[in-house]
Amino acid sequence: MKYGRFDDARREYVIVRPDTPTPWLNYLGGQGLIGLISNTAGGYTFYRDARLRRLTRYRYNAVPSGENGRYLYVRDDDDGSYWSPTWRPARAPVDDYHCRHGLGYTVIGSTCREIEVEAVYFIPSDRAVEVCSVRVTNHRSATAEISLFAAVEFCLWDAQDDATNFQRNLNIGEVEAHGGTIFHKTGYRERRDHFASFSCSEPTTGFDTKREAFLGAYRGWDLPIGVERGVLSNSLAVGGAPIGAHQVRLAIEPGEEKRVVFLLGYHENHAPKFDNTEHTALRTDDANSLIARFFDKEIIDRELNRLREDWDKTLGRLQVRVPVPEADRMINTWTPYQCVICFNVARSASGYEAGIGRGIGFRDANQDLLGCVHLLPESARRRLLDLASTQLASGSAHHQYQPLTRKGNDVIGSGFNDDPLWLILAASAYLKETGDWQILDEPVCYSDKPALGTPLYEHLIRAGEYTLARLGPHGLPLIGRADWNDCLNLNSHTNDPDESFQTAPQRTVGIAESVFIAGLFGLVAPELAEIATRRGDAAVAQRFSMSAAEMRRAVEAHAWDGKWYLRAYDAAGGRIGSQDCDEGRIYIEPQGMCTMAGFGLSDGRARAALDAVHERLLTDHGLMLLQPPYTRYNTALGEISSYPPGYKENASIFSHTNPWIIIAECLLGRGDRAWDYAMRLNPACCEEISDIRRCEPYVYAQTIVGRDAADHGLARNSWLTGTASWMYVALTQWILGIRPTYDGLMIDPCTPPNWAGYAVTRVFRNATYDIHVENPSRQSRHVRDIHVDGEAIAGSILPVFADGKTHHVDVTLGSAR
Ligand code: GLC
Ligand code: GLC
Repeated sequence: MKYGRFDDARREYVIVRPDTPTPWLNYLGGQGLIGLISNTAGGYTFYRDARLRRLTRYRYNAVPSGENGRYLYVRDDDDGSYWSPTWRPARAPVDDYHCRHGLGYTVIGSTCREIEVEAVYFIPSDRAVEVCSVRVTNHRSATAEISLFAAVEFCLWDAQDDATNFQRNLNIGEVEAHGGTIFHKTGYRERRDHFASFSCSEPTTGFDTKREAFLGAYRGWDLPIGVERGVLSNSLAVGGAPIGAHQVRLAIEPGEEKRVVFLLGYHENHAPKFDNTEHTALRTDDANSLIARFFDKEIIDRELNRLREDWDKTLGRLQVRVPVPEADRMINTWTPYQCVICFNVARSASGYEAGIGRGIGFRDANQDLLGCVHLLPESARRRLLDLASTQLASGSAHHQYQPLTRKGNDVIGSGFNDDPLWLILAASAYLKETGDWQILDEPVCYSDKPALGTPLYEHLIRAGEYTLARLGPHGLPLIGRADWNDCLNLNSHTNDPDESFQTAPQRTVGIAESVFIAGLFGLVAPELAEIATRRGDAAVAQRFSMSAAEMRRAVEAHAWDGKWYLRAYDAAGGRIGSQDCDEGRIYIEPQGMCTMAGFGLSDGRARAALDAVHERLLTDHGLMLLQPPYTRYNTALGEISSYPPGYKENASIFSHTNPWIIIAECLLGRGDRAWDYAMRLNPACCEEISDIRRCEPYVYAQTIVGRDAADHGLARNSWLTGTASWMYVALTQWILGIRPTYDGLMIDPCTPPNWAGYAVTRVFRNATYDIHVENPSRQSRHVRDIHVDGEAIAGSILPVFADGKTHHVDVTLGSAR
């Protein structure tokens, strides 16, 4: 069943019924103010840090889910009936409901009783103000007398404290209301210098800031007494639950349209903080001028257009035309968009991440960068330096840092031995894209030795050395607390139900080894060697090319299980992910990672491993993480066995791993299979099964329930997942084969053989490459010849022009001449 459709020309997803299986979200803003908004205007807004600077409240455990948002109500003042033009929260039936989720904006509208209302929500670039611009049109033959209400519930800034510490929090709320603006200033009397505003562009007939005054006792957002009565009480909250609610009365002539703008703003006052000598009244002049600016409807329209143009320009850096429209729309619009959202928000705030625990993860952020380094090279540069500064002098890294402080911490665990290696992967992707070798000389401190600053280059070396200093009895890397698979906890055994697996004490005698980290090392160590060579550092180059070869030998000698790669050795030296195991016999991660490292390509092992993946892990919805699932909790394995079979790391289709297999299949030249896997997971191919999949059909989800569970096919944890970046890399760099290298853009496709061809426009190091690939003999790969601006070139790497011009590239696939 479908709930909407793609509008490719406008880069929008158009939802046509409001009762989607879950709230279907979009994101507003980016670097500063960020909003999550559902197709019925649910969601919340924060400034940079979803925990510490939360502007509006959201209830993750609410029923129905997705509760609290920036809500609108229209009241027919003739007879007192009312509805929400966004359907929720009032849920009165509306006609012509539509929600257009676009890039950085959302439009929601409907018609009820011949009154058409459409609200546009967005955050203008570089401004900390969320605009809700409402158009009301009267399609009746008589004048309509209506009231428009808008309401938000403020969060008392620290979202964690706000949701738990009621004995204090019910006594700290403070507001001011003047000039049509409600100011939320809880905490401002003491150490905060920030406050929020909720304002209305038109003269209001009333407001409320006490939640119970607006809603009434024992009522929810669906039945607000203030709307029912048609009069607000101008209440001023002290303590309790401060909200912002405005009422505007409109008399609209037949056929007339009126516009009303509501603004949710975030403001910081540097001295002076106060407007009076008693130090009680907010200084609001700066806030007021920002607000006044965005009451100007022309400015709003201009800013919205600018936002659209900015996105078109950004995404214009890589656009493709392939024979499959569901792939085009993901590659051209939705996946790079999802990559940028992941880059901005990391894993902190989504419909599934509560914005409290998880800041910017070291491993996650490095991978997120892979999918958007060509879109945001300057931000990627800053991010790399930030990440390196959370590294410890040992080469290890804090598992996460909070965006406000940029200080690494171990709140969500530490000792994940794969972490540091991802920095090398991200740095090499950055260098290949930009050619900015100077970044390697940037001095960066270590988190545990703030006085010790070394060039970024040295951080990469320490990251690599960290692995080499921690090899186990088979010469494979020690896993530490866990590797990429957070839930395979071979060294931190816990039987305490009140302890988190991610922070439980680690056994100091642990010798568990990870084949995944061996593969990851095999992938990144040659990059580090190459970087060293190009810097003229022969000793480091030799060290890492030799250690990569040794790692390969260790994998060949000890990590091959006969038909596929083992997953790990546990703390007692037992085999995990082996034919000898009853459960968890084959894991997907080492098959992908070891092949990506180039292991087993010449001796048939990679092919065997990938065939085993095909035979044992494939479902209609994608490839499962492991088989068979663990049916009981096993202390020696940890969190992975805590999930019921088919869920999360215990044998779901853990989407993030699928693109590794796709890339691996490309390395084997099996374009058909690579494409098949990519399309099984492609959300845009799943629109028709939205009642099963349930999540947004325009973004990837972290997991899809595996075939061992009744809900097979159900997707969860959409938006914030490394799947976006990896899938984008797999599709554009491996299947379409347009791959940045240190020396230029390489053309190395591996498409389905039946494709006649495809086209790619790629901006790379200040030149545009207009690439046309022809496949006359219908094969998967092998470039026969390449012409650049009409001239044949040798090899498959396009020259770096850096001349700001467009160059025409004609590629013909076929057997080498
Ligand atoms: C989550 C985490 C990621 C981890 C993965 C597998 O997606 O964010 O860091 O690698 O789960 O456990
Ligand atoms: C993995 C899981 C994630 C969980 C984390 C810690 O990353 O995928 O959902 O929060 O481990 O348990």
